[in-house]
Amino acid sequence: MTRKQTPMTLALCALGLFAASAASAFAADAPSAPPKSEISAAVGAGAKFTPPPESAIPDDEFGKMVKLGRDIMLDTPKYAKDFVGNTLSCSNCHLDAGRMAGSAPLWAAYVSYPAYRSKNKKVNTFEERLQGCFKFSQNGKAPPLGSKTLVALESYAYWLSKGLPVDEKVAGRGYPNLPEPQQAPDYVRGQKVYEAKCIICHAANGEGQYVNGETVFPPLWGPKSFNWGAGMGSYKNAAKFIYANMPYGMSYSLTPQEAWDVAYFMDAHERPQDPRWQGSVAATRAKFHDSKFSLYGAKVNGKLLGDIGAPKPR
Ligand code: HEC
Ligand code: HEC
Repeated sequence: MTRKQTPMTLALCALGLFAASAASAFAADAPSAPPKSEISAAVGAGAKFTPPPESAIPDDEFGKMVKLGRDIMLDTPKYAKDFVGNTLSCSNCHLDAGRMAGSAPLWAAYVSYPAYRSKNKKVNTFEERLQGCFKFSQNGKAPPLGSKTLVALESYAYWLSKGLPVDEKVAGRGYPNLPEPQQAPDYVRGQKVYEAKCIICHAANGEGQYVNGETVFPPLWGPKSFNWGAGMGSYKNAAKFIYANMPYGMSYSLTPQEAWDVAYFMDAHERPQDPRWQGSVAATRAKFHDSKFSLYGAKVNGKLLGDIGAPKPR
């Protein structure tokens, strides 16, 4: 494997969760667990597609762009720093550098655009969809259309999807279905799940863990995390992601109820303002968060979520 040892993979090894090789992730409590590529297929609920291996990236100008796209995925604050306002990388949510079925893989996305999005009420090109994750999930700003950053990410996604038919219903896209919760999602139950199953990596204050300024475990809330406009801020999306992907390396180990509860708990914490801020929490909620899965504008523990003033200028 060509991938470098990141602080994160080193820390996972230190935690004893993974074997010495960073790229071949084996859960410690299941030494004979299948390699990640097979886990991917299982996670992606019916996904049969395997993107080409990194060794197949061509050694030419196009290949250089593909590699830059992969690097941006893996270390976004470093390779796309002008457009990032937090400590997250794309691959923190699109696992295995955007390869992993069931964590909104890039190959499935690539063959699904242009597409209408109710979020901005227009048909979005793939590049415009990428811009969205910069603005909200990365709490940054949209790289211009045609910029090297977007061309690199598009090249990488195109290359990953080699051989896939153009079809937005491709198996493995987005997140697998999660059954509705039997009981309404609950903060206190979610907190218990968090303390038992998440805190060891994502920390008591939800802000993740860092070594020499590099993200080892990504933040789930607080000023370094995704902002209120991000897809993960819908606790339905978050529950689906968590159910299929967390705790890291232990897909589907939570019950659906636990996934809903912990997603609710995570999304009931303060985070950077929605950049589409309308001047007040009520107006912003009315325009962009009129959903039972958004806690923006809800009162939790006596505090109005989102009541942190206008977004910081960038
Ligand atoms: C905080 C988590 C998070 C981060 C960080 C993040 N994304 Fe996303 N991304 C999401 C979520 C959530 C969705 C919506 C998934 C869904 O609705 O199925 C999404 C959707 C997408 C899609 C569309 C997927 C599809 O099938 O339509 C693309 C493409 C994408 N992200 C690319 C990126 C890129 C590139 C970056 C880094 C610049 C990035 N994302 C960073 C959470 C994140
Ligand atoms: C063993 C350490 C570990 C545990 C335990 C763990 N996570 Fe994670 N989590 C990670 C890592 C590492 C990533 C980033 C994955 C990557 O970059 O490949 C991540 C990513 C995430 C993300 C997307 C990125 C972000 O910061 O928003 C969410 C949401 C998340 N975890 C929630 C949870 C929840 C909820 C639990 C408990 C049920 C949990 N995690 C347990 C290590 C862990």
